[in-house]
Amino acid sequence: MRIPVVAGNWKMHKTFEEGLSLASEVIPMVQDEMHHKAEVVLCVPFIHLSAIARLADGTRTLVGAQDCSNQTQGAFTGQVSAGQIASTGAKYVIIGHSERRQYNQESAQELTQKAKQALAAGLTPIFCCGEPLEIRQGGNYLEYVAQQLTDSLFGLEGSDFEKLIIAYEPIWAIGTGLTASNDQAQEMHAFLRKHLATKFGNLADSMRILYGGSVKATNATELFACPDVDGGLVGGASLASREFTEIVKCAR
Ligand code: PGA
Repeated sequence: MRIPVVAGNWKMHKTFEEGLSLASEVIPMVQDEMHHKAEVVLCVPFIHLSAIARLADGTRTLVGAQDCSNQTQGAFTGQVSAGQIASTGAKYVIIGHSERRQYNQESAQELTQKAKQALAAGLTPIFCCGEPLEIRQGGNYLEYVAQQLTDSLFGLEGSDFEKLIIAYEPIWAIGTGLTASNDQAQEMHAFLRKHLATKFGNLADSMRILYGGSVKATNATELFACPDVDGGLVGGASLASREFTEIVKCAR
């Protein structure tokens, strides 16, 4: 039985005060309105981590960052280590989001290092993968995404691998309003689970694979009902408390 996860990804939105105000709406709503087992995570900008982790303390909502350094500590101006993130009370960290792969040229090897740093600090990595539109149209999309997992995750030990969460986010669906159909999502998730099993065996059965890309309250029920979809990574819709809570309610 895989417990579903709904993680909000605020990206680079909200000033400090605005973020506190959004979190103080979302956290009690989730608390009052969710009556089933699911993990709820807010992946917020670094500036919010500590304050929101404090707000969420003792509630059903957990907090995560959107990236971490591939280094443990030292002279890396502007970077934030996994240990620093964990020291705020955060429990999760997104690794390898397509926007970071694109704008920060994150390599597969760097992502392995980041995943290892996160695990060593006791954080749960939410490892993102997904294909651009031209790969989808070219027809080789299953192999392309499987290769992303091979390149960054197959170097991990099984005991580390089992603590990971994967998020499949087709790039053509991120922030575009286009969503993968249920069939498209299920096809990819089932393929990735089989692919992970070639390396990690039965552990792949307990791996949570989230779908991301224009998840909304109106499509979440159907997407989350796909047998291999174990919840969602939600960008735009996580910035509105009511919408996000409705999505959370769909994950059972
Ligand atoms: P979106 O973003 O829900 O706005 O499409 C998802 C993501 O990038 O994680």
